[in-house]
Amino acid sequence: MTVGLENQGVRPPGTHQDLTDAKTWIQRLDRPERVSGLRIDDVVARLELKPGDVVADIGAGIGAFAIPFAKAVALAGKVMAVDIWPGLLEYVNEKARKENVTNLQTTLARSDDPGLPKNYLDVAFFHDVFHNINDRQAYLQALVRCVKPSGRVAIIEQEFDDPIAKKWDLPEDRITKDQVKTWMANVGFQLIGDFDIFEGENNPKGTGMPERWFVVFSRISASDP
Ligand SMILES: C[S@@+](CC[C@H](N)C(=O)[O-])C[C@H]1O[C@@H](n2cnc3c(N)ncnc32)[C@H](O)[C@@H]1O
Repeated sequence: MTVGLENQGVRPPGTHQDLTDAKTWIQRLDRPERVSGLRIDDVVARLELKPGDVVADIGAGIGAFAIPFAKAVALAGKVMAVDIWPGLLEYVNEKARKENVTNLQTTLARSDDPGLPKNYLDVAFFHDVFHNINDRQAYLQALVRCVKPSGRVAIIEQEFDDPIAKKWDLPEDRITKDQVKTWMANVGFQLIGDFDIFEGENNPKGTGMPERWFVVFSRISASDP
């Protein structure tokens, strides 16, 4: 991701985490117009989260999804807010405290591994994150070990050719739905949901958010965790 490097026109090595301070990132990510473009309630509904589910919001950022997810899975469930940036996780903890959310745990992860227990997740979720990962296939290999046999992986990503995506990210930093389908098939997962709530006219206007695709996968064979 090249946010913060817009005047330099170069790709940051690895991640952007050391390119600017957490406060700047928090302001960027928590802008009301951006948050309104996340369609959080619609995402929660499409994921069909239920009380008791264990969900990881990977690249949780400011917890825009993690906190509503924690409410959706209720006290019987749990949300792991995973990020590589301690400053953002502190912010998520503070937000959770303010909103009396007690079933959310922040986890500082490595950029190549979510670092969660094996066979743990009902849903692994990424919004506007997956393109930041360097070796996406290897990451998915590590990720699916943390997903229960009946679990799902949900990915929302910017359209490869969206003008906003093109402004921020070089072609090698953007990914297509077909690439993700191939990487997921390579780790034994098939497409079970493809939602157009961020595409074309459905994408909220004036939010600064690009059009995005939203896909959900489950194991081809549930006996193959
Ligand atoms: C554009 S922000 C999106 C945040 C949040 N998902 C949202 O949509 O509001 C990308 C987030 O992914 C995190 N991130 C980047 N690479 C990551 C990786 N390899 N593993 C986990 N988090 C990562 C960043 O620190 C940042 O918080």
